[in-house]
Amino acid sequence: MARIISIANQKGGVGKTTTAVNLGASLAASDQKTLIIDCDPQGNTTSALGFPKDPARRTLYQALILEESIERITLDAQVEGLELIPSDKNLVGAAVELVNMENREYRLKAAIAGIRDKYEYVLIDCPPALDLLTLNALAASDSVLVPIQCEYLALEGVSELLDTLMRLRRTINPTLAIEGILLTMYDDRTTLSKQVAADLRSFFGGQVFETVIPRNVRLAEAPSHGMPVMFYDIHSKGAESYVQLAKEVITNAQKRVGQGSERADQGTRAESAAAAIAGADGGRTITGPNSSTTGGDGTSGGDGGSSSSGAS
Ligand SMILES: Nc1ncnc2c1ncn2[C@@H]1O[C@H](COP(=O)(O)OP(=O)(O)OP(=O)(O)O)[C@@H](O)[C@H]1O
Ligand SMILES: [Mg+2]
Repeated sequence: MARIISIANQKGGVGKTTTAVNLGASLAASDQKTLIIDCDPQGNTTSALGFPKDPARRTLYQALILEESIERITLDAQVEGLELIPSDKNLVGAAVELVNMENREYRLKAAIAGIRDKYEYVLIDCPPALDLLTLNALAASDSVLVPIQCEYLALEGVSELLDTLMRLRRTINPTLAIEGILLTMYDDRTTLSKQVAADLRSFFGGQVFETVIPRNVRLAEAPSHGMPVMFYDIHSKGAESYVQLAKEVITNAQKRVGQGSERADQGTRAESAAAAIAGADGGRTITGPNSSTTGGDGTSGGDGGSSSSGAS
């Protein structure tokens, strides 16, 4: 039975798609049959896996809105053990059309229920928004992996995201776990990157993956060649880091099996982290021992209500 992991952060350009494509390929290369669902109308995962735009191609839209069989939409991703449910800009329409549909948050869950047994992992690449597409992804998932770029204001939006995740646990998906927080675009030559990483670790502790994804030009180049980085330059630091991440994901899964269940404290820890970020000074400033660089902008932590209205 596949573990279904959403890769989500409403902040744009933090490495969601890069992670979906390269973690997916690395899992497949580790003999873990994997399906990647491109749930973003930008279709970046689809093109990064070598599928150029094609108006005739069926996409996730047909499955979500027209209830076409998901198997008829699934493509082989030219990597053994890796399959793709593609997307294109028509999915924008789905986000709108879903609003008035019955069970609007659960349509992706229903669409993929019958294919879970075929895979070890299903990764869902979410759009940079807390919209109905992302809610469908999170409702269908066992866990969420949150990429965070190691830069100034790294926590911008993380409070809102965690807040929304906790609300989802109370509403549409009580068992949603945090797969992990992934530090991306890490540059070990800058003290800023180091400081941001240290802040995030002191704040989120064991929820942060040990693997860190470095800033690496090969990772940025590979999509234009339509292939995961491990097939573009296996010796690059970027390829190595995603292979390492896949190992960590698999090891964590084995540990969970060993413990006989999900790490039950995950949600609670995320909840207190969310509260701590949103609370205290009313902003998003990290107030850990190493704080100072990832500080907030002073805007309200908010309740995220406007951007996640589909959950209520
Ligand atoms: N570790 C990295 N090193 C160098 N470039 C990277 C790295 N990760 C991602 N990039 C580049 O940064 C840009 C944004 O990455 P990506 O598309 O994965 O982010 P995203 O979160 O999916 O964006 P969006 O929110 O628009 O969907 C891309 O051009 C990508 O190639
Ligand atoms: Mg993306």
